[in-house]
Amino acid sequence: MDMVSLTSRPSSGQRALADSLARGDAAMGSGIAHVAAATYTNPHRFEREQELIFSRAPLLLGPSALLPHVNQAVVHDGYGVPLIISRDGDGHVHVLANVCRHRGTRLLDSEGPVPATRIVCPYHAWAYRADGTLASLPRAECFPGLDKAKHGLVEFPSLEAGGLIWFARDPHPDFADAAALAPDLDAFGLAGLHLYKRRTHDVAANWKLVIDAFLESYHVQRLHAATIASFFADGITVADEIGIHQRAAVGRSDYLSEIDRDDWTALRRAVTYTYQLFPSAVVIVSPDYINLLIAMPQGVGHTLVEDVMLIAEEPQTNEAEAHWQKSWDLLDGGTFGAEDFGAAALGQRGLDSGLIDQITLGTLEDGIANFHRKIDAALR
Ligand code: FES
Ligand SMILES: [Fe+2]
Repeated sequence: MDMVSLTSRPSSGQRALADSLARGDAAMGSGIAHVAAATYTNPHRFEREQELIFSRAPLLLGPSALLPHVNQAVVHDGYGVPLIISRDGDGHVHVLANVCRHRGTRLLDSEGPVPATRIVCPYHAWAYRADGTLASLPRAECFPGLDKAKHGLVEFPSLEAGGLIWFARDPHPDFADAAALAPDLDAFGLAGLHLYKRRTHDVAANWKLVIDAFLESYHVQRLHAATIASFFADGITVADEIGIHQRAAVGRSDYLSEIDRDDWTALRRAVTYTYQLFPSAVVIVSPDYINLLIAMPQGVGHTLVEDVMLIAEEPQTNEAEAHWQKSWDLLDGGTFGAEDFGAAALGQRGLDSGLIDQITLGTLEDGIANFHRKIDAALR
């Protein structure tokens, strides 16, 4: 059950953050910052984010573990584009339009991964391979001169790296920053993990309020007093960046200065690493499991948040299953669902009232200010 045995060393960046924590450095911004309330409530702002960020930037779809086998496919609709994510017979991932090339019918409609040696349209049974190419159609003589090679499913650019699957609607996306995360994620063995559970939360909050909650540890001792607060020291966080993404580490400096920080097993027990994957996903690494949270905006005050929990292997005994179910209930139901997403929804209600013009960020909340600077830059 212990995934830390999968790898032996931290990445250079992970080690540097641990050293910084051991020295007692704190991620302190230089002073108070503000974000305009309209950033979270203005529908025009939301439309611009859709047009200039979500229609262009690489977006996280999920973990590689979503498709553990070749010739599998899974439906994805969360970003407002009907997608099929597939793994072909050679193991390569494809992100395809879930739209038949014959007369536009939605092809697949299932929650989990399905076998996809052939993806067959329910209407007239055009059949596609897992790589999206058109394999066959009934009564092919009725389509004289049809070039099958030009009637495969529409494919989007995609990247599988570090155990994560990305796609972009831009035909020429820059996946460099997504790829740059791989050394850190490989150190956690993310690509080899088992998908234990996934659940989509319907949150009545702007997508940025959801992400903000994972960019500061100021709230951990307060909001999470009843769930996870006792695992963490108050406000001892260091952070840096991997391209457009943010990386943070929380841990106890007194303990860290005593352990061998090249001992990855010990380091992973002592430090919690969190990654904000621009624009709208978070990776939270606990010693024995990893959670991905993927926020998918549906409207200015409405976000779907998929929570995926990854563990080393499928539970083999009832005890193991009960153990993981307990962790899942604590995190997905309690810490994330009731507390973090609950706070985001309360924030939306307060900001929607129009009674304050801006929010105020202290020095422990510099990650939020940094996140909003990156969004502003993308909108310019
Ligand atoms: S619409 Fe798909 S086969 Fe006709
Ligand atoms: Fe939280």
